Amino acid sequence: MTVQISPSLLAADFARLADEAATVAGVADWLHVDVMDGHFVPNLTIGLPVVSALLQHTGVPLDCHLMISDPERWAPEYAAAGAQNVTIHAEAATAPVRTLRTIRSAGARAGLAVNPATQIEPYADLLSEVDMILVMTVEPGFGGQHFLDLVLPKVARARELIARHGGEIWLQVDGGVTQDTIGRCAEAGADVFVAGTAVFRASDPAAAVKHLRATADAGTQARQVQQGQARWPGIV
Ligand code: DX5
Ligand code: ZN
Repeated sequence: MTVQISPSLLAADFARLADEAATVAGVADWLHVDVMDGHFVPNLTIGLPVVSALLQHTGVPLDCHLMISDPERWAPEYAAAGAQNVTIHAEAATAPVRTLRTIRSAGARAGLAVNPATQIEPYADLLSEVDMILVMTVEPGFGGQHFLDLVLPKVARARELIARHGGEIWLQVDGGVTQDTIGRCAEAGADVFVAGTAVFRASDPAAAVKHLRATADAGTQARQVQQGQARWPGIV
């Protein structure tokens, strides 16, 4: 598992998106774009025209998180526009398999997100259709919320499901991810970390990304040591 950091533009200055994106270019793996429709979630942010414009101004791949109703209608358009990852919500999708397949056939990675109260197990049979599972660590809709520790057991269960399934499926966490919480997300098995406030409200966003990555790397190593010890008791 390689740690990847996806700074969320939700915490950036929307009037200066290209400049904000540039502050983390070279250190961030992705730029996370929160698309909210005021319907699936009680907040309205940005949509396809802004994503298309942003793609003209940044070389960092876009990780589009669609918190919208009717993802069947819109998800393929984000992929076709050039977003390299498009994530839909399980709670909003009426035809998730078809939509995930359409995202992939448009050339993007396909992600499936679950809210804090949505279990991951009902989606176990869909793992062959996804490139990434997103476990929300806050209720979606707003940045700057407190991390929900109650979701961590689900992160661990999702990692087990992925391991049992095999293949290269990433496990993303989103919401309240900071220096204080990223380590335990990594220890639970997450490998892609979205952080909005912790990056774009920091005085030095690039340094914040590096610091988050170092803490996540340490958490990943701790997890590997724990697993090794569990597999070979007594051998450190
Ligand atoms: C919340 C969004 C998050 C949000 C995270 O619905 O999906 O991506 O931007 O922001 P922070 O890191 O501030 O919780
Ligand atoms: Zn998000």
